[in-house]
Amino acid sequence: MAITMVSSPALVFLVVASFLCTSTQAQRSSCDNSFSFFEEGIAGNVTHCRKLRTLGAELGWSYRNTTPNVTVNIVFSAIPSAAGGWVAWGLNPGSKPQMVGTRALIAFRRANGTLEMNTYNLTRDTMLGCKLQPSPIEVQVRNMQANYSEETGAVTMSAALSLDPSTYNISELKHVWQVGSSVVDQVPQKHRMRLKNFDSFEIIDLTTGRGFRDTGLAKQRDAHGVLSVFGWGILLPIGVIVKRYSRNISKNQEVWFMLHVSFQISGYTVGITAWGIGLALMSNSWHFNTFKGHRTIGIIIFCLATLQMMALWLKPSKTNEGDTNTTDRRRRYWGVYHQLVGYTLITLITVNIFKGFAILRPPPVWKWMYVGLLAALSCVAFGLEVAIWVKQCRNAKNSSP
Ligand SMILES: *[C@@H]1O[C@H](CO)[C@@H](O)[C@H](O)[C@H]1NC(C)=O
Ligand SMILES: *[C@@H]1O[C@H](CO)[C@@H](O)[C@H](O)[C@H]1NC(C)=O
Ligand SMILES: *[C@@H]1O[C@H](CO)[C@@H](O)[C@H](O)[C@H]1NC(C)=O
Ligand SMILES: *[C@@H]1O[C@H](CO)[C@@H](O)[C@H](O)[C@H]1NC(C)=O
Ligand SMILES: *[C@@H]1O[C@H](CO)[C@@H](O)[C@H](O)[C@H]1NC(C)=O
Ligand SMILES: *[C@@H]1O[C@H](CO)[C@@H](O)[C@H](O)[C@H]1NC(C)=O
Repeated sequence: MAITMVSSPALVFLVVASFLCTSTQAQRSSCDNSFSFFEEGIAGNVTHCRKLRTLGAELGWSYRNTTPNVTVNIVFSAIPSAAGGWVAWGLNPGSKPQMVGTRALIAFRRANGTLEMNTYNLTRDTMLGCKLQPSPIEVQVRNMQANYSEETGAVTMSAALSLDPSTYNISELKHVWQVGSSVVDQVPQKHRMRLKNFDSFEIIDLTTGRGFRDTGLAKQRDAHGVLSVFGWGILLPIGVIVKRYSRNISKNQEVWFMLHVSFQISGYTVGITAWGIGLALMSNSWHFNTFKGHRTIGIIIFCLATLQMMALWLKPSKTNEGDTNTTDRRRRYWGVYHQLVGYTLITLITVNIFKGFAILRPPPVWKWMYVGLLAALSCVAFGLEVAIWVKQCRNAKNSSP
């Protein structure tokens, strides 16, 4: 058993390290040929094309340096998240590529199969759930056309924009895109609240075709995920197993107790770090009202785990003086409480890690690796449980006459 105990953390660390090294994804740059059905008009004049990084969206464009405004032809294509949904693309004149403040083009299919395409001014009220109505925008938009491909399900929009260079610098346009699953009475309804719906923005340089985004966020998310799994999900349960079964394995209780405490302290330290990163992630405005379940459980985990760490100071100590019976009883009750909170904690942690997987959606292999580790830990625990049981039966037999 000692071998299992020692080698697990090392194995886990290897797994974690390889996760950190391979989780950056390759960037795609050129488009699929999804505009080919749409070669007349603006789409035929597109000189650049870029696969956007989320939602399977693509943007094609060409520009002419006219005065006073730059003329930009754009073609945008994406597949709505359900039949009868909508697609949107827009420019934000503010300092950040974000939904609020975006001057958008939105297209969807009407009930009779024809397409509707309009300009929209997305405001804070839109984000708060107000009805989204077509409205004029400051940018002059000509030749709006929307098309639908039966074959792929993609909706394609094209338009010619006249951009005032003092508001929209084509070397650093803040653009956002989105897809939604339904339109009710000509009103596009809220999009889904998944990370890929929040990640659909970037700053684009139309002259070179390059897109820029802050990669810090993705790194923070990876770190939060990996550290949470390692600290809360692996070190803490190992510490519990060490404590639960040590007394039946070896006489040397002090050593096993120190091992338990050091696993819990390192698990707590790593976990709290992950938790702090999670708090920082939460402070993003668009995360604010989302992933409530994961957040709430995370906060409960923090509170319970902190309470458990207090055990270092709160545990009733063995005394040589006074009523030893009372002390014994207090220590026993305290032990039951400490164990109950501990098992509750492990359950909540496991639930929340799966919730985290559902939010981050890493490649499935990571989830299966975690499931494998859980299974391995459960097997070890189960094996030890059986060993204790057998030993107790034998002892009972020996002690009976
Ligand atoms: C496409 O380009 C041709 C020639 O380059 C031009 O005549 C035509 O007006 C352009 N079409 C659009 C919609 O900009
Ligand atoms: C489809 O419906 C819209 C209004 O919802 C109407 O303006 C349009 O003429 C209709 N088109 C056809 C081909 O029926
Ligand atoms: C669009 O909304 C912004 C506020 O987000 C407002 O300042 C602007 O005047 C609006 N534009 C139009 C054309 O209504
Ligand atoms: C694209 O849509 C426009 C109207 O929005 C229509 O005139 C044109 O025929 C459509 N093209 C295709 C290839 O469906
Ligand atoms: C240039 O853009 C500004 C604002 O974007 C608009 O008010 C103006 O009418 C445009 N001028 C031309 C000639 O398109
Ligand atoms: C647009 O941005 C580029 C690069 O950031 C900068 O060099 C250029 O001066 C800007 N142009 C205007 C009109 O602000």
